[in-house]
Amino acid sequence: MVYLELKRKRTPLSNGITRILTSKKIQLKRSDLNFEEVIKKVYLEVKNITDKGKLPTYIPELANVDIEAFGVHISTIDQINFGLGSCYDKFSIQSISKVLSLSLAYKILGEKIWERLGVEPSGTAFNSLIQLESDNGIPRNPFINAGAIVITDILLSNLENPKEDFIAFVRNISNNPKINYSSKIAESEKAIGFRNTALCNFLKSFENIKNNPVDVLDFYFDICSLEMSCKDLSQLFLFLANNGSSIIDTSQVISKSQSKRINALMQTCGFYDESGEFAFKVGLPGKSGVGGGIIAIHPNQYAIAVWSPKLNEKGNSYKGMKFLEEFTTKTQSSIF
Ligand code: DON
Repeated sequence: MVYLELKRKRTPLSNGITRILTSKKIQLKRSDLNFEEVIKKVYLEVKNITDKGKLPTYIPELANVDIEAFGVHISTIDQINFGLGSCYDKFSIQSISKVLSLSLAYKILGEKIWERLGVEPSGTAFNSLIQLESDNGIPRNPFINAGAIVITDILLSNLENPKEDFIAFVRNISNNPKINYSSKIAESEKAIGFRNTALCNFLKSFENIKNNPVDVLDFYFDICSLEMSCKDLSQLFLFLANNGSSIIDTSQVISKSQSKRINALMQTCGFYDESGEFAFKVGLPGKSGVGGGIIAIHPNQYAIAVWSPKLNEKGNSYKGMKFLEEFTTKTQSSIF
């Protein structure tokens, strides 16, 4: 049910007449949003459109996927869960993992992390080297590869057993012990990781990498290789819709302020040089990955994950973007 709240304000005018201003405010009650019906409708619509996207070719193992796969899953902070299509199939979350590595680094180091990277949209491709030279080795934000590599370096310096501790952090938030890395994907990326190697060495030349670049890259490829389903993703990311606190045991995963700031970064930087377009058409904080997944957050309401492997020219899921645009339009649930 959607209901209207009418607000009236009396404004005295200089001629002694009082004008009554009425402003309409539409309030949507969380439990009343008819997510299931809209998801079913939009899913079918988008499933049938011609997919103009292409599979990424630079990580060979990512091509080993069902190109027809299309899944969506929503989890609300009221604990409503609903999914369709390939929503239980695991896929490579790739850059979506950058939100998780940032969350852990931010939790450990607090505001100090911003001494080593910025919070500005880059307006460039995710793997671009261009700005690093003029920015003296300070990546624009934590979601471009350069920024995520610096975050990986921070984790390497601060975790006792980086690979084990990171996966424990992820499993703990989601209460899902089955979430894991894929060695196949990590190895496949490592074999062709020339650009990331260049980025990491370049960062090292500016002294913004403290560890051995080989170790940083190994851990970075492992983090990117995390595999999850849309259901796993929407449940895991609920803490960012819930002011940083776990929906399961109400513990604080990250602080409320950190959660707000990570949402702000997802809104402004989550889709690289398509971040403006995502804000414009979808209107939610979100993050994409070259595995074809997208997670989007509606603070205080829900997390929604979409997966379809073919990507548009900016490296974001073609059908995923279309689905989310229609979904937030039909549910009127953009944050703007
Ligand atoms: O480092 C890379 O290039 C990949 N492991 C991740 C890139 C990615 O997912 C960008 N997303 N849209």
